[in-house]
Amino acid sequence: MGRLDSFIRRVSAQRDCLNMAKDMIANIPGPVLELGHGNGRTYDHLREIFLDREIFVFDRRVAAHPDCIPDDAHMILGDITETLGSALDQIGGQAAFAHCDIGTGEVERNARFIATIAPMVDALMAPGGIVCSDQEYTVACWEAQSLPEDVQPGRYFVNRVKR
Ligand SMILES: C[S@@+](CC[C@H](N)C(=O)[O-])C[C@H]1O[C@@H](n2cnc3c(N)ncnc32)[C@H](O)[C@@H]1O
Repeated sequence: MGRLDSFIRRVSAQRDCLNMAKDMIANIPGPVLELGHGNGRTYDHLREIFLDREIFVFDRRVAAHPDCIPDDAHMILGDITETLGSALDQIGGQAAFAHCDIGTGEVERNARFIATIAPMVDALMAPGGIVCSDQEYTVACWEAQSLPEDVQPGRYFVNRVKR
């Protein structure tokens, strides 16, 4: 598949999974977490679909479109392996939804990184909460959910926190 088609499929999968998650957390109170701000594309979408929820964004830097930058109280800056562990007070309670789009390009380094942050993300999640991710996270109490119809297995991941 060409790079353009691959990109289109990836962002379509993101959008479809985020939209699906909205309904999946309808009865779960709590804020929304965006791990990986990037250019703010998915943050902007989360703002559109989660009108009634606080959204907290994690990244080591702000490099997004100026229209897609949260206020200081909702932008948690720094290396995520350091900021996640102390974020619970700032986000005001466990999260109903987390979108993790924070992978690096290198397979082995990435696997170590995801293994490091997986329990930290889990600790911030409310029971019944949903995690959508670009990488596969292995957490004992997370249960893989069916993907939207047009999303191929392995392209995106949706898990519910079962505890
Ligand atoms: C793929 S981009 C996110 C794209 C974003 N979801 C969007 O739609 O625009 C990944 C982001 O993760 C951030 N990142 C990667 N490793 C990080 C780390 N260890 N701590 C904090 N941020 C990190 C990068 O700075 C980058 O902005």
